[in-house]
Amino acid sequence: MHVDVAVIPAAGRGTRMLPATRSVPKVMLPIVDRPAIQWVVEEGMRAGVGEFVIVVNPGVEDLLFSHFEGMEGLDTLEGFDGVTITRVVQEEPLGLGHAVLQAREAVGDRPFFCLLGDNLAVPGLDQLGYLAAASDGRSVILLRDLDDEGLDKYGVAVPGEWLGERIVEVNGAIEKPGRDAAPSRLGFVGRYLFNPEVFDRLEGLDPGYGGEIQLTDAIAGLAEDGRCLGYVADADLLDVGTHATYLEATARLGLWHPEHSKSWRAFLQDLVGDA
Ligand code: UTP
Repeated sequence: MHVDVAVIPAAGRGTRMLPATRSVPKVMLPIVDRPAIQWVVEEGMRAGVGEFVIVVNPGVEDLLFSHFEGMEGLDTLEGFDGVTITRVVQEEPLGLGHAVLQAREAVGDRPFFCLLGDNLAVPGLDQLGYLAAASDGRSVILLRDLDDEGLDKYGVAVPGEWLGERIVEVNGAIEKPGRDAAPSRLGFVGRYLFNPEVFDRLEGLDPGYGGEIQLTDAIAGLAEDGRCLGYVADADLLDVGTHATYLEATARLGLWHPEHSKSWRAFLQDLVGDA
């Protein structure tokens, strides 16, 4: 399936990254040489996406968009000339599901990727192409085997029939079930390919876990109708949403970076050698 549009929910308040996020949105924090959001847009572009709908909280639209579009005398960012970026404001942080729903009008009746703005792929370990290849018209959610800690942090799938080594039917979904209630260890780790029918599921949702409108509950609705698959990833995404994982993301992408990897690797080796 070809997917030409991606929604990037980036309207969370980033409380776990305070104080860095007091006045700078989490997705604008730099990772090596570019803000987190640019890494995410580039991942989508590598998968053939030309249009991005970024969901932001009020007041930061210009900051975020001037990065790509070049406002007030700046040129468009090199390499992004043919890319369309649409801004959608989520007035209140009512949850990830609510953020995705705000993109409904911009997406229309098209299948779309949903890329969480605080999760980054290491280039070369991209998974979006696998989601598109796995889809038979149904939504496909990227899954990853979670450890105990992850079962408190992510939505978790109720797996059904396996359709291939990595592809499984999703029969249900529970947000942050914890170890005791977890139906499996297969967690939703921040990359989704949705059939637009997910918007109908989101429309009708009441607040769920944590009092927020949960994307996981909409996935549970799709699963009820037999309209959802999972694809088990063979690589982790990097999480820039907490202090410790932000550091890890910077280190990992520094080791990937064509210009900086050599000196960064040598520096880390020296540092560890000294410790
Ligand atoms: P998180 O819960 O990880 O992000 O949401 P957060 O709310 O920014 O983090 P903390 O807990 O306060 O530190 C996952 C993704 O969903 C988006 C976030 O921007 C992030 O990409 N999100 C979350 C929204 O866009 N709107 C919301 O109301 C909630």
